[in-house]
Amino acid sequence: MNEKIRLGIIGCGSIASKRHLPGLANLKKAGLDNFEVTAVCDAVEQNLHAAVVYVRDHLGSEPASHRSWKDLVAGGKVDAVDICLPHGLHHVVGVACLEAGMHVLIEKPLAVSLKTGRLLVDAAERTGRMLSAAVPLRRLQGQCAVHWALNEARLIGEVRTFFHNYTHWRPPVPAALTDGMRWRRDRAMGGGSTVTDSGIHFLDTLRYFHGDIEQVYAEVRAYRDGEPVVAREEIAQHRENSVMAILTFKSGVAGTWCWSTVAAGAETRNCVIHGSEGSIEDTNYADSSIVCHLFKGGAELRRRDGSYMSMHELQSKHRAALGADGMQRLFPNGVTDEFALTIWDFLSAIEIGGRPEADGRDGLATLAVAEAIYESSWCGQAVNVASLLNGETPSRWQSDIDAYWDEYGMLAPGKTSATVGAVRG
Ligand SMILES: NC(=O)c1ccc[n+]([C@@H]2O[C@H](COP(=O)([O-])OP(=O)(O)OC[C@H]3O[C@@H](n4cnc5c(N)ncnc54)[C@H](O)[C@@H]3O)[C@@H](O)[C@H]2O)c1
Repeated sequence: MNEKIRLGIIGCGSIASKRHLPGLANLKKAGLDNFEVTAVCDAVEQNLHAAVVYVRDHLGSEPASHRSWKDLVAGGKVDAVDICLPHGLHHVVGVACLEAGMHVLIEKPLAVSLKTGRLLVDAAERTGRMLSAAVPLRRLQGQCAVHWALNEARLIGEVRTFFHNYTHWRPPVPAALTDGMRWRRDRAMGGGSTVTDSGIHFLDTLRYFHGDIEQVYAEVRAYRDGEPVVAREEIAQHRENSVMAILTFKSGVAGTWCWSTVAAGAETRNCVIHGSEGSIEDTNYADSSIVCHLFKGGAELRRRDGSYMSMHELQSKHRAALGADGMQRLFPNGVTDEFALTIWDFLSAIEIGGRPEADGRDGLATLAVAEAIYESSWCGQAVNVASLLNGETPSRWQSDIDAYWDEYGMLAPGKTSATVGAVRG
């Protein structure tokens, strides 16, 4: 491709300003320069202005700026968009962009519900445009090394189980909500809480390591002022802070994801993958994001024969196994910023006409696991993920979200609610 890909950023809030725009700057600095940011969009003037200034100062272009995403789409100045909007707008804006002939990268989760996510996947297949689900954590050097150790080097033999257990006490969040917190608390915009928000990272990592998840059994709880809000009707109105899930994989692997942020007293920490010959433990326990983000820091590999490897040694062995070509493929021109790499994966797939690391179907499959966790807790029984994904098992947990979007023809949020009015387009 001779011409640069004209990229638009839609939604210039927290993640776009802290990671996506700096990620793009890191690509340029490393000489990975097949794009130009030609348009930015945000409904909030301050965020929009900051993005324009950043693009001008660090990315060397003067982007068109829009308060309305519809104007950006109509402007005809972009070939591809990076969508960093509230979850409920992913399908609204994503489908419009695909229909207008643009390639689309969407922040996690792919959509606010499975039904709205299917609209995105269908639109990509209908238009032949690329739909890519952002999976930055797959490009963490630690995750890449563990993926290699499990699936290629098979350093712990046949993978059998994992136990991911992390409990601690976190004081309640203050009553004053930021904009980013406000839309997350609205069912039609946020969808769920940790499981479907940061939890998508964890569930995507599991799919990256062990393949597709077949079945989920889970109990989800929200505890407030000492009173447990158990699953079913009420949980939708609260943010879960305790989850106990058992996940079984098509490969035969089985594991648990058990965490609580309101566990008073003793803290428990045990995040280990076991195989027939040994284990790999994520030892990054000082960082509470370990609940959802795996292998960001230290790790220890122990084998039955008594041998031991630190994360440092594991990464060195992985780099040696990759060689120069493999390193260039995973970390082109030495870039290790995982957000830069996930955007680069999207841009290069456009350039060479390939498949991104995670396409729309992948994003939907991971979302289905998150939804299966809620659904299982809601109905009190194990949920088959494929059956939820293909609609054979009705999604009762999400029925109110789908009813909201159905009322507005799925693609146009018409009602302005008190909680999200400020951010609706
Ligand atoms: N990959 C990660 O680690 C990570 C981390 C945080 C957030 N995210 C994801 O990024 C997305 C955005 O999250 P965030 O934390 O940046 O939220 P945010 O609230 O900080 O940013 C959202 C931005 O969208 C803008 N916006 C809202 N409605 C709009 C509309 N109709 N038209 C134009 N702009 C509009 C808001 O003004 C705001 O600037 C979400 O999908 C979230 O899950 C990913």
